[in-house]
Amino acid sequence: MKRECRLPTSLFLNLVHVCLVQANYAPYFFDNGASSSNGNMALFSLSEDTAVGTHVYTLNGTDPEGDPVTYGITFEAGARKYFAVDENYGNVTLIAELDREVQARRICFKILFSHSFRSDLVQSCPLLVTSSHLLFLRPLHLWLLPSSIPPLPITVFAFRPNSTLFLDFQNTPVGSSIFQIEAVDRDTGSGGSINYFLQNIHTNKFTIDRHSGVLRIKTGINLDYEKARTFFVTAVAKDGGGKLRGNHKVYSATTTITINVEDIQDTPPIFVGTPYYGYVYEDTLVGSEVITVVAIDGDRGKPNDIYYSIVNGNEGSFEINNATGAISVVKSPTKLKKEVYELKVQASEIGSEDNETAHTSTTVIIRVVDLNNHPPTFYGESGTQNQFEVTLYEHPLEGETLRGLKITVNDSDQGANAKFNLHLVGPGGIFRVVPQTVLNEAQVTIIVENSAAIDYEKFQDLTFKLLAVEVNTPEKFSSTADIVIHLLDTNDNIPKFSSDYYIAKIPENSPGGSNVVAVTAIDPDSGLWGELKYTIYGTGADLFLIHPSTGIIYTQPWAILDAEINSKYHFFVKAEDIEGKHSLAEVFITVLDVNDHSPEFSENIQEKTMIIGSPVKVEVGFCMEVCLTELQ
Ligand SMILES: *[C@@H]1O[C@H](CO)[C@@H](O)[C@H](O)[C@H]1NC(C)=O
Ligand SMILES: *[C@@H]1O[C@H](CO)[C@@H](O)[C@H](O)[C@H]1NC(C)=O
Ligand SMILES: *[C@@H]1O[C@H](CO)[C@@H](O)[C@H](O)[C@H]1NC(C)=O
Ligand SMILES: *[C@@H]1O[C@H](CO)[C@@H](O)[C@H](O)[C@H]1NC(C)=O
Ligand SMILES: *[C@@H]1O[C@H](CO)[C@@H](O)[C@H](O)[C@H]1NC(C)=O
Ligand SMILES: *[C@@H]1O[C@H](CO)[C@@H](O)[C@H](O)[C@H]1NC(C)=O
Repeated sequence: MKRECRLPTSLFLNLVHVCLVQANYAPYFFDNGASSSNGNMALFSLSEDTAVGTHVYTLNGTDPEGDPVTYGITFEAGARKYFAVDENYGNVTLIAELDREVQARRICFKILFSHSFRSDLVQSCPLLVTSSHLLFLRPLHLWLLPSSIPPLPITVFAFRPNSTLFLDFQNTPVGSSIFQIEAVDRDTGSGGSINYFLQNIHTNKFTIDRHSGVLRIKTGINLDYEKARTFFVTAVAKDGGGKLRGNHKVYSATTTITINVEDIQDTPPIFVGTPYYGYVYEDTLVGSEVITVVAIDGDRGKPNDIYYSIVNGNEGSFEINNATGAISVVKSPTKLKKEVYELKVQASEIGSEDNETAHTSTTVIIRVVDLNNHPPTFYGESGTQNQFEVTLYEHPLEGETLRGLKITVNDSDQGANAKFNLHLVGPGGIFRVVPQTVLNEAQVTIIVENSAAIDYEKFQDLTFKLLAVEVNTPEKFSSTADIVIHLLDTNDNIPKFSSDYYIAKIPENSPGGSNVVAVTAIDPDSGLWGELKYTIYGTGADLFLIHPSTGIIYTQPWAILDAEINSKYHFFVKAEDIEGKHSLAEVFITVLDVNDHSPEFSENIQEKTMIIGSPVKVEVGFCMEVCLTELQ
């Protein structure tokens, strides 16, 4: 048990008389310890039942030079005098009755100590008066952790049984001693041996050493300001008990220690109101606020101010007010390339910028919401266009694209609002449009599907309507464009005769150059491709000529037709265009007999008698077809 209670030096008043004439050292008291009744009277205590006249203490001091010393006690002016001292021997005698309940527990007085040249005046304050033995609590050490401040010895005595001490200490390593209480019992033996223990429920966070009174944080416990800020620990000091005026008496004292946990910067800021979703509409003005994030310092005790920043993801489109956390859009929404932006926003504590634990980040999702306010629109090479024309030769290859058409279609809306279908309305099955479904923008391609139908001889112009109609919008905005296809002719037709064969008759003896028959062939192609040249050939064609452009067949100027020699001719006629496309037809010509011969009788016929006026029967041996009777 501790009984050595040194008076703190701060409580001494040394009155030094400086002697300039002669070197002299001040007298001093012997310090024989608090338990001694001989010495400097430090921490002197006295039981209230002490009888008046008792010699309670002996002041004991000396002078370095060996000069004789004298002792004295003074009380404050007007205060009751309790003690007297023998000037030469230092015997201190109680001269007034002590009553703890009535009188102050502390009695202040001064011990005067002097010799021939100088004197020391020592204030001995306080003197403790107890009922029978003294018990007081004294905090020894208080650590402020973690901090640069070294452990501070506490030099104030706590005399009242219930000292409430406000201790500000920060998060303290487990097991470290945070505080030491000390009870002093001036009794000796078991009556003066003190045990310490804790009384209240917070014993589960703190422990006290039975013997030393050192208070510690229990192993495994971490004090966290964010969870509990104050603890009340009631410590009990109890002596071993002893005799007082014949009775066994156990004394105890309790003191409540209030432990205030001090906050430290151990918690990063916390975003409140997460998750964050913001929307930018197409008509949102540049600079408008989209969403505001709020973070607070997790350290609630002395929260730092927060500043906000966008770490990434804004792509120059968003800004944050570093003080308020308001995020605003700084680009025109139509220039926002993405539909969804994921911003990483950081909240940092001002003053702890470099500390990893002092910032936190969150994701802010900003969706760019499109309004369906644009129809699909067709563009030509120089802006919007509603009519597109192209000229091409008939019968292009199937699968070929109409290269002459440069059509772009786009819908400035976004997402589903910009999805539309393309249709080609007009004569079916001839062309096909690609693509059929467009998102935002596309080059329109028109592909030949049926070449045969693209015939200049049928249509010289083909007209279609190109339709773009939104698919998924309630408005179903649409646009149309006219597609006009001018066809150019090609020599795609061969001449065609009006008949596969021609039959003609010509009397014999027709003069040379007589017309026989006219043939006609038609070629619908335009220009020279439709101009035909007729020729004839074949074995029977020698006697005939054909006019190359009119198709009139006539006899050679020199030709003499004689049915008797050859009454039938057969040859071919050819109609040919400028590129040699041709077709053939057959021509059959019969030469009609005329009476171009005098009758000649054969020997046997001439022998017959001919009577004019009477029918003559002539038998012609070779000519069966024609019987001519000539009257002479
Ligand atoms: C005074 O104290 C000193 C030092 O402890 C001791 O040697 C001496 O005997 C004491 N004098 C008296 C008169 O008790
Ligand atoms: C003080 O003590 C001394 C020696 O013990 C004694 O002779 C003297 O009488 C005492 N004085 C008083 C006032 O009790
Ligand atoms: C000390 O405090 C406790 C609790 O506050 C109280 O019960 C007790 O009476 C007090 N003791 C004294 C001596 O004031
Ligand atoms: C950051 O904060 C932690 C917790 O308070 C502290 O231990 C650490 O020393 C700090 N670091 C800096 C660089 O301030
Ligand atoms: C916050 O922004 C203001 C003005 O934009 C600037 O002056 C200030 O330095 C910024 N604060 C921090 C902590 O970045
Ligand atoms: C649509 O296309 C035209 C022509 O290519 C272009 O000028 C315009 O910027 C486009 N609009 C959008 C929203 O892409």
